[in-house]
Amino acid sequence: MIGMIDSGVGGLSVLREIHALLPDTSIQYIADTAWCPYGVRSAEEIRDRTSALTELLIKRGAELIVIACNSATLAAIEALRAQFPVPFIGMEPGVKPAAALTKTDTIGVLATELSLKGDKFLHLVSAHARDLRVITQPCPKFVELVEAGTLEGELVESAITEYTHDMMAASADVLILGCSHYPFLRPALETTLPDHIQLIDTGSAIARRAAKLKPQKTTSPSISILTTGSLEKINSLLPKLTPGLPAECQPLFMS
Ligand code: DGL
Repeated sequence: MIGMIDSGVGGLSVLREIHALLPDTSIQYIADTAWCPYGVRSAEEIRDRTSALTELLIKRGAELIVIACNSATLAAIEALRAQFPVPFIGMEPGVKPAAALTKTDTIGVLATELSLKGDKFLHLVSAHARDLRVITQPCPKFVELVEAGTLEGELVESAITEYTHDMMAASADVLILGCSHYPFLRPALETTLPDHIQLIDTGSAIARRAAKLKPQKTTSPSISILTTGSLEKINSLLPKLTPGLPAECQPLFMS
């Protein structure tokens, strides 16, 4: 079984890619909605919280943990790897593929405040985009909109215009969706932004990594979404975010 963690429904953008590649593998996904957003919390808080959630998933039989959240990966994955004897896959803003694609030597990174302010992000930029202009932008409204199931319309368009203003003015031609919530806004981003803008997200790369680790197949695979928030809310969001996904939602009570 693959265990997955995100601050809310964002990581379902990764889950749908993993399920497409590994339909015979069971998945238990924690939407830590009671703690959402992670992106404005401290790295210490996220380390403690994801450690408690990982322990729970391992007790439930997870043999591989996917941290389907850029913020939690950047803040906590090293500590989690040191603490638990299972393989982890984390996700980071796709600076490397963006650097390979830009023709204007300018890339934009949309991510959370927590992701952008840590040393790990600075290392990512110095490893892959040292000679490029890198314009960063925290996008808290994107997370709020996706958590509310608002994926299009005026509020979405005005948030996109606000958050991409500086990178557009600097002629960025590749924008990184550096938070697992943002791919749900890809259709709106594609219609709002000029045609030549390329968008990078890393969900499918994470799924390929998960497939390489060959998690156990089962004859009766199941997808459980465990929420620390409102069951009713996640039940109403699921058909909108991941139509057709054969998942069952359950409440998760954490202290
Ligand atoms: N989905 C998360 C990420 O990839 C965090 C969003 C949030 O809770 O702030 O960074």
